[in-house]
Amino acid sequence: MNAAARPGYSPGLEGVIAGETSICWVDPNAGLLYRGYDIHELASRANFEEVVWLLLYGELPTPEQLAVISRRLAAERALPVQVETTLRQFPQGAHPMDILRTGVSMLATFDPELNDHSHEANLRKASRLIPKVSTLITDGWRIAHSKPLMPARPDLGHAANFLHRLMGEPPDPWRAKIVDTILVLYADHEFNASTFAARVTASTMADIYAAVTSGLATLKGPRHGGANEETMKMLRDIGSTDRAESWVMERLARKEKIMGFGHRVYKKGDSRVPMMRELARQLGQRFGQEHWVPTCERLEAVMEREKKLCANVDLYAAPVFFLLGLPPDLNTPFFACSRISGWCAHIMEQHDHNRLIRPRSLYTGPPQRAVQPVNGSSRQAT
Ligand code: COA
Repeated sequence: MNAAARPGYSPGLEGVIAGETSICWVDPNAGLLYRGYDIHELASRANFEEVVWLLLYGELPTPEQLAVISRRLAAERALPVQVETTLRQFPQGAHPMDILRTGVSMLATFDPELNDHSHEANLRKASRLIPKVSTLITDGWRIAHSKPLMPARPDLGHAANFLHRLMGEPPDPWRAKIVDTILVLYADHEFNASTFAARVTASTMADIYAAVTSGLATLKGPRHGGANEETMKMLRDIGSTDRAESWVMERLARKEKIMGFGHRVYKKGDSRVPMMRELARQLGQRFGQEHWVPTCERLEAVMEREKKLCANVDLYAAPVFFLLGLPPDLNTPFFACSRISGWCAHIMEQHDHNRLIRPRSLYTGPPQRAVQPVNGSSRQAT
């Protein structure tokens, strides 16, 4: 194709508007709104259940609506026994993201409303999926580590239940509060890769479980949700603040990507970084591990100087998760435990106003040509 005839093309869809949404707005100048509310205000004034309602219904809940969503989530925490049995079949060392993705895919077959894509049915399915994703993570991890399963506690909220069922004891209120804040911070981020993948799947009018499975598969990669697991490996490898600069300079010289830095949309900083940095600082002081934040800050200074790149949320999420006692391979599943709420809202929005997402590609292969006979005879099998 000659250059003049080429249609507009943006590698990686950078800057392309691929759809409309009323759920979330990412401001490239370091802002983030859920349904018009600033993320900082939500993180300090709303809990995860309220944000779930906000994302799914469009408004913050009244006290009665908050009680409704809390009850619904609490009532749907249990997994079908067959799914629990399947969690016992994975080979040792299976990654929790693979277990979670398989678990969600299997849950589809137990949902009597699987093929009803109406708004009301999708809302009901979302309130089943959100608590069950949490249970798949906690039960999957405990089974993989030969620990007895913890029954859900109806008196505990979503964040406290997650910790209770993972750690095997009810969490201190301060720990549950921090986990709740992180769930709020990660709940949505408009057309990020996993949400877009979920919307592409939903646009074929495939069911909500299929779309969430696509989202989970996409989240796993280290350019997206997998970055927080890789970031912790990096920070542990660096070890101390005074090694940060030489460590990063060596990798940059080898043209390696530094985890926890860069973002497709934010160019002046990730809106979630200041809160996550503050949580890391508080936890560092509480546990006498105050070196993580200065190490990250040294990395930030070097990356700004060398590449003009800002930290993204995963840089500080990694030490926060570590200090909270989360097993490192649960970093990305824990992200999914929050993002499931945003995925469900986006899948519903896609189903409600659907048009198949089907872009074109720019063909770069050989021009049309004829199949040539081999040694004078036809290529067809005789
Ligand atoms: N470390 C080092 N260099 C980076 C970088 C990073 N984390 N992120 C981007 N860059 C560099 C690229 O090498 C490129 O430099 P060049 O122009 O000299 O070749 C430039 O910045 C533009 O990068 P590009 O890969 O085109 O940006 P993108 O928008 O396609 O990628 C990410 C965005 C998030 C995939 C990318 O920044 C990244 O891989 N970050 C690390 C993984 C991560 O933390 N992901 C979580 C995101 S919330």
